[in-house]
Formats: sequence, C-alpha cells, structure tokens
Amino acid sequence: MLRLETIGLGLAARYGYQPIETPLFEQTAVFERGIGEVTDVIEKELFRLAPRSEDGETWALRPEPTAGIVRAYVQHGMQTLPQPVKLVLVGPMFRYDRPQAGRYRQFWQFDIEAIGDPGPAVDAEIIELGSRFYRDAGVEGVAVLVNSIGDSACRPAYIEELKAYFRPHAASLPDIERDRLERNPLRLLDSKDPAMTALNAAAPRITDRLCGPCADHFRSFQDHLRALEIPFRLEPGLVRGLDYYTRTAFEFYVAGREGQQQALGGGGRYDGLVELLGGKPTPGIGFGLGLDRVLLALEEGGHSARAELIPPVAVVVGADPAATAERLRIATLLRASGIVARAELAPRKLGKQLEAAARDRAHFAVIVGDELADGQVQLKDLEAGTQKLVPVDDLAREVGRAHAGHHHGTAAG
Ligand code: HAM
Repeated sequence: MLRLETIGLGLAARYGYQPIETPLFEQTAVFERGIGEVTDVIEKELFRLAPRSEDGETWALRPEPTAGIVRAYVQHGMQTLPQPVKLVLVGPMFRYDRPQAGRYRQFWQFDIEAIGDPGPAVDAEIIELGSRFYRDAGVEGVAVLVNSIGDSACRPAYIEELKAYFRPHAASLPDIERDRLERNPLRLLDSKDPAMTALNAAAPRITDRLCGPCADHFRSFQDHLRALEIPFRLEPGLVRGLDYYTRTAFEFYVAGREGQQQALGGGGRYDGLVELLGGKPTPGIGFGLGLDRVLLALEEGGHSARAELIPPVAVVVGADPAATAERLRIATLLRASGIVARAELAPRKLGKQLEAAARDRAHFAVIVGDELADGQVQLKDLEAGTQKLVPVDDLAREVGRAHAGHHHGTAAG
C-alpha cells in the first residue's frame, strides 16, 4: 500500500497536484447532498456514526473523498486561488458493504481532483495520469471505458425517457430498483442486480441525446485522448454510482473484465457539485483509484504485492554477546548517516551473528571487539571476503563510500 501511495503522490506532484487531507468523517449532509440520497453509497453503504448530542448534527465516515474535498474548497475560500485548484489525497474510505474479495469496509483510494477547469483537455490529462499510475504500479493493459452523461440542459429529458422505458417493466423489477424508478432512474443503469442486465442493455442511451455543448465537449475530450495515444472504449451504459457527475464519466478495468462489477478505479466531471455544497458555480473533475484492487490485480498477475524489505548495508556484530549497548550505539551512528544498518541484539556467539548477517544479504559486518578501546572496529566486507581495521569516527564515511562504489561498479559492469 505504501509503495502505491508513494507512486501516486510522486505522479501527482509531477502533474502539479498538491496534497490535501480531509477528516475521516463529515456531517452526513455533505455526503447526502454531494453523492445523492438515492444511491447505494448513501442508502446502503454509509457508515453512520451514532448521534451524540442534542444539536441534531449527524456524522458519517467518508465513503469517498470528493464531497469532503469540495466542502473544504468552499469552506476555505479556494475559489480565490488561481484556478484550477489541483488536489491529491491518498487514504482510507469506508463503505458498509458486504465484505468479499475486492470489496472491503475500509479500503484505500488514490484520489485526484482538478477544480475550476471546464475541460475537456484536463479530462483527458487526468485519464492519462490514471493510466500512467497503473503502468508505474505494474498493472499491465488496463482498459479505459469512457462516456458522457450530459448536463442539466440535456439530462432531464433523458431521465423522463428512461422512466417511460422502465415503467412497463416495473412489476418485474427488483424491489430497490422499482423504488428508484421514479426517484432516480439513472441508478437503475448501474444496478449490480443480474436481473437488470438485459433490460439495461436495451435502455435508451444518453450519448444519443446529448445537447450541442455536451456533444462538442465529449467529441473534443475523445480527440484529446487520441492525441495522448490513450486507447479507450466508448461505453454508453457507464453512468457511475454517484449523483454528482456531469458530462465525462470513465472507469478503469483489468483487461478482459471491462464493465464487470469491480472497477480498478473511476471518476468523472462534477460541474454542479461546488454550487450544490454552497460555492459559486465551478466545474471540476477527478478520479478515485481503489488501491486494494490494484494489489489484488498485481497478485493475480503473479507479482508479489508485499513491500520488499531492504537488506541492511551493515550489520553490527560483536565478540562479546552481552555488549549489546556498544553494537546498538554503532548501528545508531551508521543510521544517523543514512546507512541501512542493523545491530545484532541477540546474545549469541559471534559465528552465529555473522551467519545471520550473511543470511540478511548484508554487504558489511562491523565487528566490535577489543579494538574498541582504541576507538576502532573491524569492517568485514561479506561480499569480497576482505576485512580491515577502521576508526569508529570514519566508519560511516567508509561504509558509505565502499557501498556506493560497489553498487556503482555493479551497475556499470
Ligand atoms: P467510486 O467509483 O465510488 O468513485 O470509487 C472509486 C474506486 O474505489 C472504485 O473503482 C474501486 O476501485 C474503489 N472502491 C470502491 N468501493 C470499494 C470497496 N468497498 N472496496 C474496495 N475498493 C472499493 C468515487 O469514490 C469517486 N469519489 C471518484 C471520483 C473522484 N470522481 C471524481 N473525483
């Protein structure tokens, strides 16, 4: 997880995104208004905290970061900064779902938001950033699915058309979908219920009903993706599970699993969200990539997702098994100089200590013995098999130089 976080934050910095942290919990209203009350995330998956006071405030753990980030953008006057405000957040999210492989109650997201840019160029730039993240993380051939879901000019008519399409089937719809038919029919299109698959496939498509400005935006967005040589697939059924989206919507999938339940990541444009949460009308776009699913994809691809332990450059050992304080002091000196070092703290014989150092693939063993009285230790190069006496005061410099030289030599030769 830490490796993925480092890759994500590194990329974000290269693309000009600044880190932001938001609280792990917010007032429930931030999520309800932002994400939409008639959504799985709010109706079924929101981790609500028990009310504590008489003031009527209700709180919930964050199921996603976008609503909280936009709340912070409005509350902290980020509209007055040069736009767009580009922000990155990596952290845990919480959804009270039924846990299963790839679906957890606490999971990690790498989230990017560009607030204040209407696109469509930035839409493509963000997808390119997401694709690069997967490539750098080692997930090969991630598929990009894109769609446009229109805006307040063209979507209302489409919603009515969708209601008319589903109404004759109302009796055969699963309960929750029937309930949503009049309140939020768009959510029927991303239903996870297999009973909806055929019906959804034949449903009217928003992409055929976009207004002029939305259609132009969508076309130019695709031109930008082509200019960046990002392969993508149009997916007219992709509407995302959160209500704040307008126009551009996209998802990333493990190749061969396009459109199945578990996306690696997803995002889109939310041109109405800032206003909805109390700010001036401001466009925005972003994505959230599920890091747990990236780890799963790496493991399935035969890559170890576990972070590798860095072998120590030096292990400090000693002839006197009990002299742990001296060994620790010398290891501390090395570490203070930036050298990966370990002191042997088990009170065992020198031979055993050296064996353990070799097993750890240490480059050097620092042997503390009688010479310490003169301020010196033996520096044994475990790879070359050589050994020499070195003053403790020069030890860090000596180890650092020999190790760097050795590795430089290996790389060059
Ligand atoms: P989302 O599609 O709800 O979008 O979640 C983004 C990603 O988080 C998913 O594609 C998936 O990889 C991961 N994810 C979601 N739920 C779980 C879970 N229960 N267990 C493991 N992984 C999960 C959002 O959250 C939006 N805020 C994305 C966004 C940012 N849109 C604009 N800006």
